[in-house]
Amino acid sequence: MHNTNVSGMLGSRNFYLKQSKTAAKKCFLQLKNSIFAFMKINQLQTLFHKELASLFPKTEIDSFYNILVEHKLGMTRIDRAMQPQFELNREQTSYFTRTIEALRNETPVQYITGTSHFYGSTFNVNSNVLIPRPETEDLVSWILEDIRKEAKIDILDIGTGSGCIAISLAKNLKNATVWALDFSEDAIQTAKVNALANKVDIQFLQQDILKTHELDKSFDIIVSNPPYVRELEKKEIQKNVLAYEPHSALFVEDTNPLIFYDKITTLAGKHLNPNGKLYFEINQYLATEMMEMLRNKGFTKNELRKDIFGNDRMTKSMV
Ligand SMILES: C[S@@+](CC[C@H](N)C(=O)[O-])C[C@H]1O[C@@H](n2cnc3c(N)ncnc32)[C@H](O)[C@@H]1O
Repeated sequence: MHNTNVSGMLGSRNFYLKQSKTAAKKCFLQLKNSIFAFMKINQLQTLFHKELASLFPKTEIDSFYNILVEHKLGMTRIDRAMQPQFELNREQTSYFTRTIEALRNETPVQYITGTSHFYGSTFNVNSNVLIPRPETEDLVSWILEDIRKEAKIDILDIGTGSGCIAISLAKNLKNATVWALDFSEDAIQTAKVNALANKVDIQFLQQDILKTHELDKSFDIIVSNPPYVRELEKKEIQKNVLAYEPHSALFVEDTNPLIFYDKITTLAGKHLNPNGKLYFEINQYLATEMMEMLRNKGFTKNELRKDIFGNDRMTKSMV
């Protein structure tokens, strides 16, 4: 999930938001005044830049514009180049007015469209689930590198959220049986919709892993990207992440930051099949503590990998 610091890791979408409330209000009034009922598509892009220029870099505004226009109108860049005079109707104009305002209020664009892309698939996202991060794709890649495509194996994803890890594995490992666990009923609902949309069969378990003493069966792979941001790291986190993403998916107490890893490693020690593997996404600042904890719990073969930003980000362990 992360970059050179925690704010980076939780803000790989680079929202640079420092607008004061007063300035935001003033700009919104300008926005309202500048909207006219039947706008042309080429005027819309100008409007995005005019209204968001003080808040975001130009490339990011273009990215918002492309994502939102494609989402709402189904028009690609080529479509727009071919029809620059395409006229928005009143409802479409009003939609874009609202989305510009939402962007000004720091709403992640993925929550505006309700979708996010992960490992080549589309996932529904909402305020009950974490927006999948590109760093987590590396964890999925690592597992897929290690496993034969046709392997008949059992996989458990703990803290599944949108289901991005479980569903991506199931899509790429046709003979695998995949279980996905989360304590949040709403997250499980979202993950179920995503499994259906991505045409994979997942066994869902709504369960609090911290209160779980035994798993019902054994697995060949246990994977987890659990909450791992310490309260002390909160101040480094971008405002839009703090305001919109579920805190139960993100934070752990400063006094026991490995609480999830500790519990899951204990369970994995009891419920991994022979040659089974345990994969984690981790807090970049706690790699040393993680490796020590894994060794102390009897995992002798441990590997640490960095993410695309060069930060310690994931582990693989075997007994
Ligand atoms: C960092 S998010 C990861 C979501 C998703 N797997 C991903 O990689 O984007 C952690 C997930 O753990 C879940 N979670 C938090 N506490 C939990 C608990 N005690 N038992 C089970 N799941 C929990 C949250 O609901 C959230 O979906």
